[in-house]
Amino acid sequence: MNFKDKDIISIKDFSKQEINGIISYAKKMVPYAKGEKKTELLKGKVMSSLFFEPSTRTRLSFESAMNRLRGRVIGFSDPGGTSQKKGESLADTIRMADSYSDVIVIRHPQEGAARLAAEFADAPVINAGDGAGHHPTQCLLDLFTIHTEKKNIEKTKIVLLGDLKYGRTVHSLAYALSLYGAEITFVSPPSLKMPKEVIAECQEMGVEPTQTSQLEKAIKDADVLYATRIQRERFPDAEEYNRVVGSYIITNELLEQAPNELIVMHPLPRITEIDPEVDTTPHARYFTQAFNGVPIRMALLSLILGERL
Ligand code: CP
Repeated sequence: MNFKDKDIISIKDFSKQEINGIISYAKKMVPYAKGEKKTELLKGKVMSSLFFEPSTRTRLSFESAMNRLRGRVIGFSDPGGTSQKKGESLADTIRMADSYSDVIVIRHPQEGAARLAAEFADAPVINAGDGAGHHPTQCLLDLFTIHTEKKNIEKTKIVLLGDLKYGRTVHSLAYALSLYGAEITFVSPPSLKMPKEVIAECQEMGVEPTQTSQLEKAIKDADVLYATRIQRERFPDAEEYNRVVGSYIITNELLEQAPNELIVMHPLPRITEIDPEVDTTPHARYFTQAFNGVPIRMALLSLILGERL
């Protein structure tokens, strides 16, 4: 597994064997991610954190990951405070970050922005979400969570719920789960169905996902319920958003229909998709999932920068 200087733009850049290797290495990072063990693995390395779009988990967990490895972080969380405001191009901003750091993490509202950034940087670029495109590190932490909680991704029965049209995490996850041959059910409002091209990719890998709008039925024998937010910022029309928001709400009453072992995941932020009453039940895994972003990103930064534990 040699990822030194590799750009990470899409989960499709990885084979199943490579994903397994990253998951296994990330497990070694857990005590360091929790601060129970210390390391200076990335001392002297600098990460640029360029967030052109809002983020809580991805930005903070990348920064925590770099800090836990004793690396340093530069960057911004609001492009309004940068020379983009004066009209600087994305290419020039990337050239600057490239000359100031060893690795560049970028979130941008435009699909394809991370790949473009990689063309202008010698340093490796990690896509932290590009519009409705890809969010590969989210996908890796989702797989890490399923592997940790269920021991086996191959045999997992998973329901992907919510905004399957605009949700970039579910596009990447559907692809990755198909690599493992997992059993997948898509549940969404009719106007937010999984795009045909994503379904075709699953089929090409020998997986035939079930599509339904009936959540209660879908969770009856599921292992994982993966909910997503309706992506308001990607809707061309506010009225259409208002028609579908709140279509599915996960409550304790709903979860009575599910197996006791079912875990509920969500990339967060949640809006109305999960009632807070679920937070204290044994089903809830979304906060653990968010923490798992730290060991996964520590593993990736370590591998990309060529320094192994
Ligand atoms: N899951 C995720 O990408 O969350 P943020 O938008 O807060 O980074």
